[in-house]
Amino acid sequence: MLLFATLCNATLMSQGNGSTECRCFPGEVCWPSATQWDAFNHTVGGKLIRNVPLASACRKDGNYDAEACENLRSTWLYPETHLSSIGSTMAPLFTNDSCNIFAPDDAPCTLGGLVSFAVNATCTADFQKTVAFVRRHNIRLVVRNTGHDYNGKSTGAGALAIWTHYLKTQEVVDYQSPSYTGKAVKLGAGVEIAESYAFAQQHGFVNVGGDCPTVGVAGGYTQGGGGHGPGVSKFGLGADQALEWEVVTGTGEVLIANREKNQDLHWALAGGGGGTYGIVSSLTIKVYPDVKSSAASLSFASKGNDDDAFWDVVHIWQASLPSISRSGCFAIWVISPSGFELVPANCPGLSKNDTRKLFEPTLKSLEQSNIQYNFTLDEFPNFYDSYKEHNMMFPKNVSQSQLGSRLIPKDIVARNNTELVKIFRHVVSLGNDFLGTAVDVLQHANVTEHTSVAPHRRQAAFSAIFGTNYDQKNYGVNIARANEMTDKLLPMLEGITPNGSAYMNECDFQQPNFQQVLYGVNYDALLKIEDKYDPDQIFYAITAVGSERWYSNEEQGGRLCPVSTV
Ligand SMILES: Cc1cc2nc3c(=O)[nH]c(=O)nc-3n(C[C@H](O)[C@H](O)[C@H](O)COP(=O)(O)OP(=O)(O)OC[C@H]3O[C@@H](n4cnc5c(N)ncnc54)[C@H](O)[C@@H]3O)c2cc1C
Ligand SMILES: *[C@@H]1O[C@H](CO)[C@@H](O)[C@H](O)[C@H]1NC(C)=O
Ligand SMILES: *[C@@H]1O[C@H](CO)[C@@H](O)[C@H](O)[C@H]1NC(C)=O
Ligand SMILES: *[C@@H]1O[C@H](CO)[C@@H](O)[C@H](O)[C@H]1NC(C)=O
Ligand SMILES: *[C@@H]1O[C@H](CO)[C@@H](O)[C@H](O)[C@H]1NC(C)=O
Ligand SMILES: *[C@@H]1O[C@H](CO)[C@@H](O)[C@H](O)[C@H]1NC(C)=O
Ligand SMILES: *[C@@H]1O[C@H](CO)[C@@H](O)[C@H](O)[C@H]1NC(C)=O
Ligand SMILES: *[C@@H]1O[C@H](CO)[C@@H](O)[C@H](O)[C@H]1NC(C)=O
Ligand SMILES: *[C@@H]1O[C@H](CO)[C@@H](O)[C@H](O)[C@H]1NC(C)=O
Ligand SMILES: *[C@@H]1O[C@H](CO)[C@@H](O)[C@H](O)[C@H]1NC(C)=O
Repeated sequence: MLLFATLCNATLMSQGNGSTECRCFPGEVCWPSATQWDAFNHTVGGKLIRNVPLASACRKDGNYDAEACENLRSTWLYPETHLSSIGSTMAPLFTNDSCNIFAPDDAPCTLGGLVSFAVNATCTADFQKTVAFVRRHNIRLVVRNTGHDYNGKSTGAGALAIWTHYLKTQEVVDYQSPSYTGKAVKLGAGVEIAESYAFAQQHGFVNVGGDCPTVGVAGGYTQGGGGHGPGVSKFGLGADQALEWEVVTGTGEVLIANREKNQDLHWALAGGGGGTYGIVSSLTIKVYPDVKSSAASLSFASKGNDDDAFWDVVHIWQASLPSISRSGCFAIWVISPSGFELVPANCPGLSKNDTRKLFEPTLKSLEQSNIQYNFTLDEFPNFYDSYKEHNMMFPKNVSQSQLGSRLIPKDIVARNNTELVKIFRHVVSLGNDFLGTAVDVLQHANVTEHTSVAPHRRQAAFSAIFGTNYDQKNYGVNIARANEMTDKLLPMLEGITPNGSAYMNECDFQQPNFQQVLYGVNYDALLKIEDKYDPDQIFYAITAVGSERWYSNEEQGGRLCPVSTV
């Protein structure tokens, strides 16, 4: 075993099968034999794992275990349940409902939309050997980090996954290059956001990351459209922090990409979509001297309050967002049929008093309308303490809703806040949730040329996200609701933001014209880079650059095929 664990070198290359045929699917004659899988397992030091759905613990004909099953059922909605599984996804629509944890004991349990195998990677050699194997056998490849992606980009029927979860190293470096000299942290691909915050704080720094503690920094967060979160208004988007990537390309080459070397690859990885150009093993990001931070949380209920008065407060809140984010704060809030919850606003660098001023218009309007509310505002000597106190309120559920979103430009908020509020009110009145995230990254626009983040993100006041409820007991209803998102809910926002954009990590997976909406003017350049570093198109993910060339329908068996063959 020790021998296996240390076996982590040597490169295997082989020819790809091009992209004129469907990927080989389990059960087909082209699928590797048991002997071939064993041989591959040996080359990766025994790190190959066959995927067994977690929920099979609840199946009489599976791995039935009453206690494990009960445990899983009660924790299924928490991200933590899925993080250390090799093939679970937090986006339930993409499982094909094939092994539903909430279904009866005798319901079927198959892999459905989940990957068949995964390599529990510990080094770039594991990535290279996996790339060589999928190329030789024409197998679908998936890059999986935490499994958070709402659009199921880290799962896939009949796929072999590279699993990056255990690449957990973190190291402070003095980064020196013609374009940047200063403190930085080199992160393994599996490092999660809260882990990165804790490490930076221990060394007297603060870094940029998301609100969610368990999302990965180097994967979908930084690569998938930019990444927003607590430090973003002050320091720039997640993608703006990227200094250097270590990456294995679609041909199995190990490359360093930064602003001097393989610049095009660096540019594409910094915001142009996860799981598309290569498999990142490490990312080096800028860090900043730690700062005092304040954070505010606010909630008020719908029940017991006049509906017009409630939405008038929302109107005032939205109008105040540009000044809140321009001052360096990040805000994340939910409006559900039961009320409004700001969870929270983070203001790194701002004192309690500075932050209170930013909330005055909203609090005043609540008081004038006689609406009861809870408002807490605290100041902390460093960022991580403020994050722990205000952002990490557990337990938090995931997998409860399906998202679709639109970036709302500042000029629309200034000109037509009334119409925006009307749309949000209508969507919530139908029983859906509204989620907003506000950052101001125009002030960091000087790094734009070094990232491929869609230019619209710099002009946005906030991202408006709609969430339809996910019904764990009725898969068909969820498909209908996904279509309602695409056909009815989002078009209301598209109407008021013509030629607008959406943040890739919160978008509708069926977004029409996704190339323009998610990538804007950068799409054609990104497609050329994808073709350069992945000439045989071994990377595929829904809404990823180049994904329009492939077709996969889980309901119809899940094979991934070139569009030309459909
Ligand atoms: C509960 C929740 C809260 C969230 N909060 C925020 C937030 O505050 N701010 C924000 O910006 N986003 C947020 N997101 C969105 C999040 O950024 C995306 O879901 C993101 O895709 C997750 O990335 P991951 O690497 O953790 O997950 P995964 O699902 O494992 O991967 C996502 C994508 O990245 C690719 N990928 C992962 N690792 C690598 C790698 N090493 N090399 C190449 N490709 C890779 C995968 O192939 C896939 O395409 C949240 C999502 C959830 C579910
Ligand atoms: C790979 O090898 C290891 C070590 O021998 C073993 O534990 C594991 O089950 C193997 N994986 C598969 C899919 O057979
Ligand atoms: C998804 O489910 C449908 C209906 O049960 C089935 O026909 C199809 O083969 C499944 N797809 C996969 C990838 O298992
Ligand atoms: C994956 O590898 C890590 C060590 O890198 C180990 O701790 C973990 O248990 C492995 N996971 C599985 C499911 O084998
Ligand atoms: C903060 O505001 C309060 C009330 O307005 C005031 O009493 C206090 O002195 C202020 N604190 C600082 C540090 O300015
Ligand atoms: C304020 O918080 C308390 C304690 O959590 C809760 O009982 C109360 O309902 C909240 N009030 C409002 C108006 O949200
Ligand atoms: C989380 O999900 C559980 C189980 O469905 C539910 O009881 C609980 O209310 C949810 N919590 C939140 C905050 O939505
Ligand atoms: C952008 O430029 C300004 C002024 O030159 C500088 O202060 C700031 O640090 C730069 N921002 C980033 C993110 O590099
Ligand atoms: C606001 O948007 C609505 C719907 O798009 C439009 O009819 C109206 O003219 C807009 N108002 C302003 C002031 O732009
Ligand atoms: C949207 O884009 C199209 C095509 O580029 C252009 O003709 C149209 O004028 C644009 N509309 C707005 C409102 O900017």
